[in-house]
Amino acid sequence: MPKITESGLRRLEKAAREAASRSYSPYSHFPVGAAVLAASGKVYSGSNIENASFGLCNCAERTAIFTAVAAGEKAVSAVAIYTPTPLPTAPCGACRQVINEFGPEARVISVCDSKSRIETKLSALLPAAFGPGDLA
Ligand code: THU
Repeated sequence: MPKITESGLRRLEKAAREAASRSYSPYSHFPVGAAVLAASGKVYSGSNIENASFGLCNCAERTAIFTAVAAGEKAVSAVAIYTPTPLPTAPCGACRQVINEFGPEARVISVCDSKSRIETKLSALLPAAFGPGDLA
């Protein structure tokens, strides 16, 4: 896994901010952008994509991870999330579970439109996770 540098994290945050501009969120009006740093060193980003059948809405974090995996990646070491809000937003429970599949040790950074930020790791957001090892 590539070592995560401060400049790497800034790059990830920038990608998450840009991805939010491509959000399709006509129902919630809550745009979210996410970016992941994959094992190859590449950054993949995604936005939330909603649907008229509300249950089919896909979060930004999952769009970014599925894009990385569809490109052949198997692991992510960091996830950045951006919301255009005064306070940062942590990933939802479903996204925590999906991040766990590919990045149980991933760093998770949430940024917003103020200086407020969350810097944590997936294992703190999803302790005692169910994961691939449980099926071994
Ligand atoms: N959303 C995300 O993209 N990520 C999260 O972690 C929480 C929620 C999206 C889903 C929906 O399109 C909108 O935000 C409101 O819930």
